[in-house]
Amino acid sequence: MEFAAENRYNRNTMHLFAGSSHPALAKSLAKELKVDLGKIILKKFSCGEHYVKFQESVRGKEVFILQTATKTPNEDLIELFLMCQAAKLSFAKSVHVILPHFPYSRQDRVTEPREPISAKLIAHLLEEAGADHVIVLELHSDQIQGFFSIPADALDARMIFADYFKKLNLKDPVVVAPDVGGAKRAKKFAVTLGAELAIMHKNRSQHQEAEIFEVVGDIAGKTCIIFDDIIDTAGTLLSGKNALMERGAKEVFAVATHAVFSGKAVERLTEAHFREVIVTDSIPTNPKLFPGLTILPIAPLLAEVIRHVISGQSVTDIYKK
Ligand code: R5P
Repeated sequence: MEFAAENRYNRNTMHLFAGSSHPALAKSLAKELKVDLGKIILKKFSCGEHYVKFQESVRGKEVFILQTATKTPNEDLIELFLMCQAAKLSFAKSVHVILPHFPYSRQDRVTEPREPISAKLIAHLLEEAGADHVIVLELHSDQIQGFFSIPADALDARMIFADYFKKLNLKDPVVVAPDVGGAKRAKKFAVTLGAELAIMHKNRSQHQEAEIFEVVGDIAGKTCIIFDDIIDTAGTLLSGKNALMERGAKEVFAVATHAVFSGKAVERLTEAHFREVIVTDSIPTNPKLFPGLTILPIAPLLAEVIRHVISGQSVTDIYKK
């Protein structure tokens, strides 16, 4: 997926600001867009409260705020809410939130009595804070888009991964959904790659415990690509890889957009010996965490989307290129 670089934007209309969650991504995005990052004070008081202040006028401007959810999602969110409100109260024309990793996305429904729908609450809080538009990458489920009453561009990273795999020239790869919930996402990727599809049946006896029971599809002797949205503790991947190898898979790649890598993830991925674990830089990740880790950049995609938003062109068309 290659995008044409365009001219520097008029600072009178578009301002890009970044929260403190992912400085490297902010720098790459500004570079792609050929703009300077807007000046903003972001700090924390000794009591733990956050403070933000725009150091330049945003009156009448299209303000783009980049923030992502890292291993401290609550801190990232509060800072983002404050940035949105400060922009709104300072007469920004529109506040566009770029939130590649949308936190709480897996809590998108009531699965057991007396639970909240946390993803819906986060969407409401963003609106309440002043967001007019959000751009998110690989939402865990489609229904989250409906939690917003403002426009939400839900991007996917499929083309980024497809470009990478096309260069590997694998023979007869099979894309594997790690669970039934991820089957639609994996199917789209399989179609993009021109590969076969297999689906695993996952069970969670408790939070953060994953067990794969069944694999539906022909994977014996094949190169498998487990395609997921998030790697959190890597329990799903580990269990998935074991299930595939027990059923005769030749080798296994792991692919996911968001590298949360919490708990035992690094230990598990180091010991699992996937042929490669491929993620994006939607969350800051050290490329040397374990052997076989590949991190693909999302800044070119985000920049292209922002260019389309500013010029009033279709964002869907980006995926048709
Ligand atoms: C679950 O529905 C998600 O799509 C991922 O499969 C899950 O969040 C991965 O979590 P973990 O790495 O902790 O198994």
